[in-house]
Amino acid sequence: MYAPSGPKKWKTSRNLLVKVDAQLQNRDDDPRGPWSDAPFTAPGYRRGQQYDITTPTGQVLRPPRGRSWYATERSYLDLLADDRIWFPKGGDGSPRLKLFAHQLRGLVPFTMWSAADTGTNDDAKRHLMTMFPEREVFDTPKPESLMERIIHIATNAGELVVDIFGGSGTTAAVAHKMHRRWVVAERNTQTLLDFLLPRLQSVVNGYDLGGVTETANWMGGGSFEIVHVSPRLGVLAKKFQPEALKHRFATLKEFRRPLQSKNKCSPAA
Ligand SMILES: C[S@@+](CC[C@H](N)C(=O)[O-])C[C@H]1O[C@@H](n2cnc3c(N)ncnc32)[C@H](O)[C@@H]1O
Repeated sequence: MYAPSGPKKWKTSRNLLVKVDAQLQNRDDDPRGPWSDAPFTAPGYRRGQQYDITTPTGQVLRPPRGRSWYATERSYLDLLADDRIWFPKGGDGSPRLKLFAHQLRGLVPFTMWSAADTGTNDDAKRHLMTMFPEREVFDTPKPESLMERIIHIATNAGELVVDIFGGSGTTAAVAHKMHRRWVVAERNTQTLLDFLLPRLQSVVNGYDLGGVTETANWMGGGSFEIVHVSPRLGVLAKKFQPEALKHRFATLKEFRRPLQSKNKCSPAA
């Protein structure tokens, strides 16, 4: 992700990833619920945090070289008594601190995002095919969940998302569902008519039930305007000139019927 503000400012302005409950596990049936875990160590040598820890299997451990335990021995014993310390590898591994949902701050975005995190091209293709069953869709569209993560990290509600290569409109559709303002440019009028416009109209109407609609709690609402910008070079064919386009927008059949489902969501207030 490129941040024009530079790395220092970016670190303070970016949004952290939300740790979702589904990513927490309850490996020891803790009655307090599922938890995540973090190493019970801290960087640097701190004299008060160098002591022996005995694992449930009887192994006596010291902090790794150049590091200390995460807390003093007294705090460690309190945490142990409160069942907040987890020893992996069947009780033989280094101690880890159990962290319950309410104790977790967001995660600093990491570099590699797997299909489980942000979906696949196939997910995106299936979504497009439900919206446009009669059309041949793009080969490698982006999943909405990928754009959701990027837009979440880089912007807040009400801010502007710009996509100068509109295509099938994934970026604008997700930005809209996430209550961002957006500007999208597309030079191919046929792509605009076949995909971009009907897709965005279905998002506004609350007819698009796929992609991030559920996670973003999107129920329809908002609006957009179409602005025609004449090309700097060349002349548009007659059927792409403003008057002809106006007529085609008005008669586009996707504007008049739900794209995906008979069950329209209730429009957002
Ligand atoms: C791969 S798609 C982009 C997908 C899109 N960003 C999304 O979120 O779904 C690329 C699109 O950029 C359009 N394009 C390429 N050059 C352009 C330009 N100079 N101005 C506007 N659109 C352009 C192409 O027509 C094509 O539809």
